Amino acid sequence: MTKSVELQKEVWQELDRIIQEHRGDRAALIQVLHRCQELIGYLPKEVQVQIAHGLGVSLGEVYGVVSFYSFFSTKPRGKYRISVCKGTACYVRGSMEVLERLEKELGIKAGDSTDDGLFTLEVVRCLGACGLSPVITINDNTYGLVRPDAIPRILMAYRPAGVA
Ligand code: FES
Repeated sequence: MTKSVELQKEVWQELDRIIQEHRGDRAALIQVLHRCQELIGYLPKEVQVQIAHGLGVSLGEVYGVVSFYSFFSTKPRGKYRISVCKGTACYVRGSMEVLERLEKELGIKAGDSTDDGLFTLEVVRCLGACGLSPVITINDNTYGLVRPDAIPRILMAYRPAGVA
């Protein structure tokens, strides 16, 4: 197995085991992708290659599925996942200014994660709390009526003490 991604030997063995369970079973692709992502948190290229090989599907097919479903990720995700709503109500009430402030404070663009592995920033459709627009969520916490100026204070609660 190609092992250029820095994963522990035991993790590669477990990945191998999952793939072997479904060897040649093309219909199990999504299930296998889920289990592999659960194991390591994302789906790097090397893992996709192994899955394609094991299940007998093309790499293009694997990549197509991974990029189609937003719950699959090809990059490591941060400990805290920040979702900014870009639904109509939030958009009209300033969610893009909130997103800009988040990008500035975190030093990343939407779709990326911070180098310290703490935050992943993403844009999503309606979060179902339009009355509180603009809305963001951080993991299971929801923040409504968010103003850009409130972002540093909100982030502070998730940063280790002493980190600005
Ligand atoms: S549009 Fe943002 S919560 Fe519905």
